[in-house]
Amino acid sequence: MKAIVATDQAAGMAGVKLVERPEPQAAINDVVVQVCASGFTGDELSWPSTWTDRTGRDRTPSIPGHELAGVVTAIGYGTTGLSIGQRVFGLTDWYRDGTLAEYVAVEARNLAPLPGDVDFTVGAALVMPGLTAWQGLFDHGRLQAGQRILVHGAAGVVGSMASQLARDAGAYVIGTGRAAGRQTALDFGAQEFVDLDKDALEDVGEVDLVLDVIGGEIAKRSVGLVRAGGTFVTITGSMEARPAAGLAVDFVVEADRSQLSKIVRRLGDGRLRTNIGSEASLDDAVAAFNRTERSKGKTIIRPRP
Ligand SMILES: NC(=O)c1ccc[n+]([C@@H]2O[C@H](COP(=O)([O-])OP(=O)(O)OC[C@H]3O[C@@H](n4cnc5c(N)ncnc54)[C@H](OP(=O)(O)O)[C@@H]3O)[C@@H](O)[C@H]2O)c1
Repeated sequence: MKAIVATDQAAGMAGVKLVERPEPQAAINDVVVQVCASGFTGDELSWPSTWTDRTGRDRTPSIPGHELAGVVTAIGYGTTGLSIGQRVFGLTDWYRDGTLAEYVAVEARNLAPLPGDVDFTVGAALVMPGLTAWQGLFDHGRLQAGQRILVHGAAGVVGSMASQLARDAGAYVIGTGRAAGRQTALDFGAQEFVDLDKDALEDVGEVDLVLDVIGGEIAKRSVGLVRAGGTFVTITGSMEARPAAGLAVDFVVEADRSQLSKIVRRLGDGRLRTNIGSEASLDDAVAAFNRTERSKGKTIIRPRP
């Protein structure tokens, strides 16, 4: 099969290329999925899981990309709950070969059924931002109707999903970002927008929850806005400051079938939409990720046209 592989950590994107690889086999409780649409997160080449297995052994050449929508083509020993020919979407294990390939082996429990009327590109684009936003808001942020939430990077992939889910849950959403993202953030559900280059973040006042996707100085300045008993949640992998009288959480998104089903149901109900920037074939994937200009929205790779 055709697959994108990462071979050399020091080379970064320069070491990422399209090659022929053997098709994966379904292990116990796995399925093999023919990948119709796949997503990739820009920082993946800096994650240890791209380069080593759980015991720290080199696992290159590794196939990046962990978001997918596709069709089940094989079922492993003992696997239940999914069938051959079923449309699915979900998140694959960080430490296994991923979804920038024609086929991927994945634990069945990490996938959910994808309704027949949802395009594969849309399905793949829901996975990472949908699960990250859901877990940030509801599992870690304990968001309730009527609360005030500050969503950083609200025009971005995760922020635009978080704004929609938070608004839908009855929260008051204050989005942030650069001036150019204002209208996008408002279109995705933010009720106010803070231009982080010009406006005073401190003028926002107290919030129940901050969802941070930016980190650094902006994260540090945001913790002071969290009310006593509120929560600061970040997905940036660093926690340089914590609220004086609130909770602080830094987390990595996890696969969750039931949450995926709730997310795709909201899409079907017209309560949620994706933030897709561009699509490319597997042949053009390396160029799509290597673009010099900043891309807006999720880049989706279509191994099958
Ligand atoms: N821990 C996890 O489980 C997890 C899961 C998903 C993603 N992530 C990480 O979360 C981060 C965000 O992901 P994403 O896909 O949402 O990225 P994205 O689409 O690029 O969104 C980031 C948004 O924040 C804005 N922004 C960034 N820096 C800013 C600054 N200094 N001032 C004002 N606005 C700024 C960006 O504006 P511009 O486009 O104008 O720069 C963009 O609108 C990435 O680092 C990603 O790797 C972590």
